[in-house]
Order: sequence, then C-alpha cells, then structure tokens
Amino acid sequence: MSVRILATSPLVGPALADLGARFPDLLLAPFRSAEWTTALSETEVLVAMVSEPITEADLDAAPNLKALGTYSVGVNHLPLKACQARGITVVNTPGVLTDATADTALALLLALTRRVAEGEALVRSGAWKGWAPDQLLGTGLAGKTCGILGSGPIGQAFARRTWALGMAPVFWDRDGQGGDVDFGPGRAPRMILPDLLSRSAVVSLHCPLTDQTRGLLDRAALERLPDGAVIINTARGGILDEHAAIDLLGAGRLGGVGLDVYDREPEVNPRWLQAPRAVLLPHLGSATVETRAAMAGLLCDGLAAALG
Ligand code: DGY
Repeated sequence: MSVRILATSPLVGPALADLGARFPDLLLAPFRSAEWTTALSETEVLVAMVSEPITEADLDAAPNLKALGTYSVGVNHLPLKACQARGITVVNTPGVLTDATADTALALLLALTRRVAEGEALVRSGAWKGWAPDQLLGTGLAGKTCGILGSGPIGQAFARRTWALGMAPVFWDRDGQGGDVDFGPGRAPRMILPDLLSRSAVVSLHCPLTDQTRGLLDRAALERLPDGAVIINTARGGILDEHAAIDLLGAGRLGGVGLDVYDREPEVNPRWLQAPRAVLLPHLGSATVETRAAMAGLLCDGLAAALG
C-alpha cells in the first residue's frame, strides 16, 4: 500500500479530492481502524477532524509525516509541541469560520432567551391552545451586558451581533487587562474575569481550550454571575465546568445554558438531557456549506504548500 495523504473522511467541496489528484496517493480510512493505523507508517500528510485526537504515539508511527492538518480552527486535539519538535507543519483553518460560529452562538442565545425549542415543541405536540398573555415568556436582551470570553475574530464577530441587538459587549481575554477592544461598529472594555462575570447577563465563550482556559468557568466563577444569567459555549467543552453549570441551572441561579460543544463529546452528560432551560447542539458551529468548503480549501492549500 502506498499512502501519501491519509484522511478519515471526504471534506465538503472538491479540495481534498483535488489535493489527492495533485499528490497521489490519498487514502480515506476510518479513524484508528487497522487500515488507518497501518497507513501511518507511509503517510506524509495526515488530515484529522476536530473529533479525532492525534497523539505523540501517532507521530512516532508516522516517520515520514511532513504535515498534520485539522479540519478546524481549534488545535487542542493535536500534539503541538511534539509536531514543533519534529518539524511537522500544523495546518488549521482560521478566519473562514468566524461568522458561521458567531451565528451559531447567536442562534443559541436567541433560542434560549426566546424559548424557541419549547415553543416549537408546543406547536408540534398539538397541545397549543392559542395565544395567551403569559405564554412562554422570554427575556429581552437590549440594554444588557454581554461578557465575551476571547477577543479574537470570533469573539469580535459575536460582539457585533450582540451590539446589533442593543447589548453592551465587554471582553475578557488571555492577555489580561488591557485597553478597549475595537470590534468594528464600536469599542468595548476589556475586563478582568470577576468584574466581567459579576455584571454580565449573558456570557459567551470564544477562546481556545488551553492549559490556561481549561476550567476557566468553574463553580466559583459561575457563582459570580447575576441571577438569571445565560451561558453560551460554542468554543470547547473543557472551558466550562458542566457539572457546576447543571447544578446552578437546576437551582434556578442560571437563566439558561446553550451548548454546541461538550467536555467529552460525542458523550453528553445525561444530566444535560434532563436539564431545564438548556439548548443543546451537536457541534455545529462551522456547519454551513460555504464555511466547510472554505475550510477545506484553506486546509488543502496549506497541506499542498507543505508537500511542496
Ligand atoms: C473548529 O473549527 O475548531 C470547530 O470547533 C469545528 O469546526
């Protein structure tokens, strides 16, 4: 078997097939199947999905590896230090999924605060008896503060959306306290985390999962939030202490939690499935046709450059 490029599935659009035509041979094999594992020994370019953690042992098994690509902007599932030590190029997909991910966060926010899932379920159940003054009352957003964790492109794109809703965005980022963040139509203050949490009606996560951000929103942090605050996570599961969030939601301290990502996905803590005021998506942040095709194009261009 001759394998130059190893991937676990086709990507959206023609980019991966084009790469395979330009640099034969491309093998598609399920992640960690015997075929995939055997092929590592010849592979020059390995393509991973966000759901496929690559280990240093995989690099040991792939002595010819020149590039490790991921069909994601997030790289927390890759052995970055080991790649750097071995001169393996890491290629990811920054930039092209900014709007799609911010849109997903907005969808979760509006679904929660305007009780979209409950309303839809009511109509589908056939039990809806008609308009009523106090039926499925939600919560308005205009005039409230939105705390955004992460001031990079996705955080800023989400800020623009909350600004359009009449909210006041404020930022925390890993660089600590600094000047205002210019998010396009306005500027927003950068705050230390306790200050941001104590004044935010909504907190949305837009930072990568790193040693610094793992468990960032732990129980103590969540307890700083005002009563009825809403949390949105389209970043990575490990940043939010899910157990603490479920406890506070159950106790009525939080107004809602919207999740697109989970600590051990695709496992979902069964407590979420019973949790009131939770909206749960299956990691759809970048899932538009346009975005996934653009991600594939960017990734394959980077891999082609690494192959020379
Ligand atoms: C990413 O790109 O990191 C998303 O989580 C998946 O598209």
